[in-house]
Amino acid sequence: MRQTTLRVALFACSASVSLAGPIDQAVYAAGDPAKGQAIYQAKCITCHGPQGKGDGPIGPQLKPPAADFTNAESKKKSADELRSTIENGKPNTAMVAWKSQLSASEIDDVLAYVLTLRK
Ligand code: HEC
Repeated sequence: MRQTTLRVALFACSASVSLAGPIDQAVYAAGDPAKGQAIYQAKCITCHGPQGKGDGPIGPQLKPPAADFTNAESKKKSADELRSTIENGKPNTAMVAWKSQLSASEIDDVLAYVLTLRK
């Protein structure tokens, strides 16, 4: 899966920049998912779970529960939308804003990893 994402990213970089959606995903997939995985395991896994299904130790108990990146609703969202939620958090949920704790490139990395979990 990770290899596919990287291949898509490489393809997209060499292709025209006029294809908004897929390019937008690919740009962030160009963050480093390996670095992102380490960040994810340190900061996100308790809620979102090892496969991003929202089934970490506390994820399902939350109201609303932690997002499941593999469900159809979540997969409809663009990489930009997901990035914005990671940066700014989501009001009235347990999802806090991470931009004060993670640099822009760390957010790209963790987003790249989150995108590999969408199956
Ligand atoms: C304390 C629990 C918790 C932690 C820790 C947490 N999240 Fe979340 N996250 C949530 C909840 C709750 C939501 C909102 C679910 C909803 O909208 O119903 C959410 C939503 C999101 C979304 C939006 C998904 C969508 O489909 O809209 C993304 C992306 C996300 N989180 C990424 C992360 C990343 C990356 C980290 C680590 C840097 C992280 N989260 C850490 C609980 C958490």
